[in-house]
Amino acid sequence: MIFELDLVRNIFIRDGREGINDNSDDMSKVVQKLKRIGKILELINQQVGVLETMTALDFLEFRNVLLPASGFQSKQFRLIEAKMGLKMEQRYKTEYYKHTRRGSLSEADLLEVNQAEGERTLKELIIEWLERMPFFDEEYWKDYKRTTQADSDERHKFWVDYRNAYQNSLSENEAGRLKEFDKVFFEEGRGDIPPAAMRAALFITIYRNLPIFQMPFELLNTLSEIDELLSNWRYRHFLMVRRMIGLRVGTGGTSGAGYLEGTVGQHYAFREITEVATFLIERSKRPNLPNTLKERVSFNL
Ligand code: HEM
Repeated sequence: MIFELDLVRNIFIRDGREGINDNSDDMSKVVQKLKRIGKILELINQQVGVLETMTALDFLEFRNVLLPASGFQSKQFRLIEAKMGLKMEQRYKTEYYKHTRRGSLSEADLLEVNQAEGERTLKELIIEWLERMPFFDEEYWKDYKRTTQADSDERHKFWVDYRNAYQNSLSENEAGRLKEFDKVFFEEGRGDIPPAAMRAALFITIYRNLPIFQMPFELLNTLSEIDELLSNWRYRHFLMVRRMIGLRVGTGGTSGAGYLEGTVGQHYAFREITEVATFLIERSKRPNLPNTLKERVSFNL
């Protein structure tokens, strides 16, 4: 997984020149490598079931022999998280990383993880890629037929229409979502992702049927899938741990099952991308894109 992650990151950072080459097979390579990571995760999820055929009493027979080893020491696991984009301050119970004690990460390993965090993470590269989406240049929108009049010209006419359609899709008890829409796509962004990149992710998701967006959509979808599969592993591992050692503390010095359950809720790299679904509307309610743009983003043989 680390190898594939580095490979994908290097495609985005090739030759010091930023960005993916849209006229090459870069994008399909990225998607293919990420899908491979997904397959590995599927496999390790299945392994948990095999281990669970051992009973808690069986495990106790040799638990002492494992001391002071712990999964918490896994440098590779931390590197995967860091290279994907999870930062130290976003981790559950960061204090567990502050001291290097028995069963915890060694000082040298911690240093390496910090270094990986400081390099360009997959998440940062994806954000930059999303931010450079050029489809809102005026030249593509001259023949756009707007459906809503804007209060001001601050926002692109497409987004004024989309916001209106989104508002109409909200039920009474969801009315507050409109404020959230403004915040996410025009003011603050969401989590680590700035508004322009969030807009690009939403645009790709809504119009994923257009040829030029098929691969980008596949990429975003695969990122969500990886996050979900890693989260599945965390959850299955947590359930297994509770079954094996109940509420006893871990050999790595954490609270054990309680700590692991906390990581399931918090350790995601691409949560914002997955949650774009909050802001979707039905296909039939989408604004009609102008022909100039449609031609630009379709195969024109
Ligand atoms: C009976 C089997 C297992 C038990 C009882 C167990 C227990 C634990 C506990 C209690 C922790 C929390 C850290 C600590 O305080 O030690 C932990 C973390 C971890 N374990 Fe296991 N584990 C088991 C099997 C496995 C297996 C098979 C793997 C890998 C294939 C694994 C990988 C990890 C990793 C990567 C962490 C760090 C998770 C995180 O901090 O997010 N564990 N384990």
